[in-house]
Parts: sequence; C-alpha cells; structure tokens
Amino acid sequence: MKPSVLLTRRLPQGVMDFLAERCDVTLFDEDRPIPPDRLLTEVKGKRGLIPMLTDRVDDAVLEAAGPDLAVVANYAVGYDNVDVEACTRRGVVVTNTPDVLTDATADIAWSLILAASRRVVEGDRLVRGGGAWAWAPQFLLGREVTGKTLGVVGFGRIGRAVARRAEGFGMRVLYHARAPRGDAGGAGWRSLEDLLAQADVVSVHLALTPETRHRFGAAEFRSMKPTAVFVNTSRGPVVDEAALAAVLRNGEIFAAGLDVYEREPEVHPDLLGLDNVVLAPHLGSATVETRTAMGLLAAENLVAVLDGKRPPTPVNPEVLG
Ligand code: GLV
Ligand code: GLV
Repeated sequence: MKPSVLLTRRLPQGVMDFLAERCDVTLFDEDRPIPPDRLLTEVKGKRGLIPMLTDRVDDAVLEAAGPDLAVVANYAVGYDNVDVEACTRRGVVVTNTPDVLTDATADIAWSLILAASRRVVEGDRLVRGGGAWAWAPQFLLGREVTGKTLGVVGFGRIGRAVARRAEGFGMRVLYHARAPRGDAGGAGWRSLEDLLAQADVVSVHLALTPETRHRFGAAEFRSMKPTAVFVNTSRGPVVDEAALAAVLRNGEIFAAGLDVYEREPEVHPDLLGLDNVVLAPHLGSATVETRTAMGLLAAENLVAVLDGKRPPTPVNPEVLG
C-alpha cells in the first residue's frame, strides 16, 4: 500500500507524476492557499505533508495529523512557516528545498537592484501612461551600480550567489553575517553599522527568526547613504515597511526593491504610492526550471523519510537519529 500524503497546491506535472507513482496523494487543487481549517481536516491520518510557505504548520496541524505523520517536506528553502520545534518534539522530520533555488533567487535580487537603481519600472509606468516624454540629458536619471559597493546582509547560499554576480559589475563586496566566513570569495566582513554606512546597494538575505524580525527599521535606513538602494528578497518581516516607506518618501535613501512583504500578500499602503520602490510579488524562485527542481527535491525528501532512508535536505536531522 502506498503511503498517504497531503499536497496543499498543485506542482509542475513531472513532480505530480513522481509523487503519484510512489504515494497516495490528496491534493488541495484550488487556485488559493488551503484554508487553515481545511488543512486540519485533510491532514488527518496522513504520513507525509508537502506544505507551501503560505501554510502555517503548527502544533494544531501536527495534532490533527496524528501519530502517523512522519515528514513535513516544505516546498521552500525558508521554513519560518513550520514550527520546527513542535515537529522535532513529535519526531516529525522537516525538510526544505535549499540550493535548487539559489540562482533564481539571486537573479531576482539583481533584477530589483537594477530596476530600482535605473528606474525601469517607473519608466515603464510613464510610457504606458501615454503622457509626453522624450530623451533628455536629465530625464529619469538613476544611479550607476558599476564600480560601486554592494553590501550583502546574510551570507548564506543566496547571499553569496548575489555577491558572485557583483563581479560582473566590477563592484566591491562587503557582507555582514553573525561571524566572518572563511569562504567569502573576496568579500569583506563588516559590522552591520559599517556595512550600511559604506554600501551603495544593500541586499538582504536573512532567514526569518525572532532575532531578525524588523532587523531593518528607521535607524538602519538612516544609517545608509542618501543615494543607497535597498533590496529585500528574503522574508518580509525582516523589514519595517512603514519605516522604509518614510525614508523613501523623504528621499533619505534613493530607492528600494522588495520581493517579499511583512503581511503577504498585503503591501503597506504607504509603499504603493511611491515611485522609488519596485514591488515584485514574491517571485524569487518563480522559474519553470526552479519550481520543478524544488518539487522534485521536496518529493525526494518526503519519499526518503517514508522509506526509512535519510532525506537529502533535512532541517532537523536530530530526529533522524
Ligand atoms: C521562497 O521564498 C522560499 O523560501 O523558498
Ligand atoms: C538563505 O536562505 C540562503 O540560502 O542564503
């Protein structure tokens, strides 16, 4: 008998086929996140769960699932939506999807860096608006990134991939992480304070934890250069959106680019009216190639645990014994 698993959104067909061959899949097949009460009823008796980052997997979900639940294979690298401690307490393995989305996410960070620095989206709105415009020496001037200083905050896989791309722009790279790393590839460690004071572009790549919530508030934004460009592609709550909107409105930094939001999918209303912020709808890993690779990795993780094998990318390996 195939193990019963719950999948909360339809994934690319290759992933659906891989799962169907190996598991008895219950799919919440609607074009919206599974409502929390449906999650509680559908997860009952399942041995595996593949949730999205929009699904909160807490103690109530684990309780509703019951003792057969062995694995929560999150379809994301970030797992702040999963109460890992509660899973560990119950002996449930949690896995995520690192590595396969590193390049796609670094590319979105760079898309936002360039779009915000060069006012691409503001220009698009202007052209579409149908108003008069013409080339002019001082028309819609942005900020050059070539030769400037990039400050990367959070220097894990994605932060390092963003730093590598900076070489093509001849940039000096500084990074901040809790401790200097041996494999920084020419990037220099700075305290957050020094990094913010020196960087022309600040790109954030922090996991969301109680310590990183609102890591960027009024004080941090005011420590940046008035010409600085700020980009966040990690998790929304690491940024105080009201504070960011205030410094953007007052011209205390030049521009920003966001892919993630404090209360996704809501965006702070003060940001919506500003021309100097580019707002993307959480597209970090959103490529055909990456979403398939994430699905296959989540599925491999799930199947490995259900087969009594070691999953490729566990988050709480202590449960595996
Ligand atoms: C996307 O935000 C992810 O964590 O995979
Ligand atoms: C964070 O998710 C990282 O991999 O850098």
